[in-house]
Amino acid sequence: MDEARPRLAAVLGNPISHSKSPRMHNYWLKQNKLNGYYIPIKVELEDFEQTIRALVCMGFSGVNVTIPYKLSALEIADESSRTAQYIGAANTLTFTKENKIYADNTDAYGFINNIKGKYPDWNPKKGTSVVLGAGGASRAVIAALLSEGSEKIIVLNRTIEKAEALKKDYDNKITVESWKNINEVAASSSNIINTTSLGMNDETFIAINPKAIPKKALVSDLVYTPLETNLLKMAKNRGSRTVDGLGMLIHQGIPGFEAWFGQKPLVTEELREILIK
Ligand code: ATR
Repeated sequence: MDEARPRLAAVLGNPISHSKSPRMHNYWLKQNKLNGYYIPIKVELEDFEQTIRALVCMGFSGVNVTIPYKLSALEIADESSRTAQYIGAANTLTFTKENKIYADNTDAYGFINNIKGKYPDWNPKKGTSVVLGAGGASRAVIAALLSEGSEKIIVLNRTIEKAEALKKDYDNKITVESWKNINEVAASSSNIINTTSLGMNDETFIAINPKAIPKKALVSDLVYTPLETNLLKMAKNRGSRTVDGLGMLIHQGIPGFEAWFGQKPLVTEELREILIK
């Protein structure tokens, strides 16, 4: 590789203007004094594959992909990680020297490492984990918990059929419960994880009895606008440990940055502040 030439990466999605990834990766490039650029690219569905192939030809090191291209990204890849195959979606593509596309999903990594970064003694093996939601984010969280050896995972979703489908995809390694049992299920849990969009912008909220949140539980919310969702507020008031969604967003970006730019970036308070703005 010509070291004088800047290394290039991007994030593809539609819409894309809301993405925090360019701010994050460009912060890391500057912090590590690396010669590179990370740009947002809005792309239409019919142009997705062609755009990726063009970026490969242009010498990009790789890309992130976000909504709605996580499934297509996995499909067009030449090779993919086991995690991406398990989740059925990819968010990180790396282009090899031979111009091949390697797909990974770093959401599971981001979820686990964010919690461990804040609570190093957290043991995902122990107790019951209650996962709210059965969409793409839920799949990544469940893959992460399973790979960490969690003993019991219970999924609750508004549309129970989606949770049942997810259970089938995960070889019946999880249990499905009705959303209306949220209080009973939560009361005996060690981990509660919200992967739904409930709580976003304080427009909706999770209807759970605060007393159903065990003090010993770790409560994690993937929503990061606001940083302290109604679920996290309740958990904090109960004295439970809480983890917000911004950390997962930051941590999921680490493997891609390292693969494309050759340095493992740091998660700093300054970065969190830049991303909250
Ligand atoms: P993501 O990739 O972020 O997981 P998604 O695949 O669209 O996004 O999934 C969104 C999740 O939030 C789903 O579990 C969805 O529940 P349904 O499967 O019933 O749609 C959940 N969700 C969104 N709005 C909700 C609401 N108002 N009440 C309960 N669950 C909601």
